[in-house]
Amino acid sequence: MTSQTLLVETHELTKVYGNGNEVVALDHVNFSVERGEYLAVMGPSGSGKSTLLNMLGALDRPSSGHVLMDGQDLATVKDLDRFRARTVGFIFQLHNLLPTLSALENVTVPMQGQPGSGREHREWAEHLLELVGLAERADHLPGQLSGGQRQRVAVARALANKPVLILADEPTGSLDTQAGDEVMALLTDLNASQGTTIIVVTHDRHVARSTRRILSMRDGRIVDDHRVADAATEDLRSLARSPLGQSLLNGDTKELASLGLAQDGRLTAEGEALRELLDRAITH
Ligand SMILES: Nc1ncnc2c1ncn2[C@@H]1O[C@H](COP(=O)(O)OP(=O)(O)OP(=O)(O)O)[C@@H](O)[C@H]1O
Ligand SMILES: [Mg+2]
Repeated sequence: MTSQTLLVETHELTKVYGNGNEVVALDHVNFSVERGEYLAVMGPSGSGKSTLLNMLGALDRPSSGHVLMDGQDLATVKDLDRFRARTVGFIFQLHNLLPTLSALENVTVPMQGQPGSGREHREWAEHLLELVGLAERADHLPGQLSGGQRQRVAVARALANKPVLILADEPTGSLDTQAGDEVMALLTDLNASQGTTIIVVTHDRHVARSTRRILSMRDGRIVDDHRVADAATEDLRSLARSPLGQSLLNGDTKELASLGLAQDGRLTAEGEALRELLDRAITH
């Protein structure tokens, strides 16, 4: 792994809240995220998930330790507002849209102060609303949209400045299953088509499974870092657990002869190839 592929790194990242009655929200956290990764952060309430996201997005400062973005220590960034506007797109649980602005205007808000004319900003916002399937709702106020639609506006807004990193804190938390699935499908597409790095905090296993890696937190620490296999690998793993898979892996040729996977007490070429596939899937 070269440092060029790393987008985010934390070194002994620690956050302690309060004086006297101290809460260690993050406790010497070390992890890194490569460009293009799509990962979920899970863990019980109070385990430090939001605190971690806030540190990564420079919304708050660590008590000790470091966050590096693209190799640069956030503690050395002079203009954090500018850094945030250019690098990070935020999506929160309660899609905090401005209630008096239309969907389109909400999407243009982060573009203020960024290069381009007002007209260019509006055109880009129209494009983003189209991307999230809301071109027809551009002029609606947030109060005239459903929860899922509002959250899709929030996704469009997070994309306004073409961020390299999207930080989403329970983006489906206030939505029903279908609207939540739609928002996650959007994020999955975005990761696949644009290579945008996405970190999403969620309580929902179903949501986490649409990502490629799951970090589990407990008491301010990362206690597990699990790579989610692709669907084909997961299928091979379930085949490996079946009686047929067990026969192949154990070289139990009796059961396999009738399937053409073994002959004269030995695996055939097909049998051998399948055994290798299973072996690779379960040892990865
Ligand atoms: N501003 C704050 N002042 C004091 N303590 C805080 C503050 N923010 C968070 N904490 C504490 O830090 C710990 C981690 O909080 P955090 O919000 O990161 O948890 P979380 O994993 O996001 O939980 P949830 O799933 O409920 O959103 C908790 O014990 C919380 O009470
Ligand atoms: Mg939280």
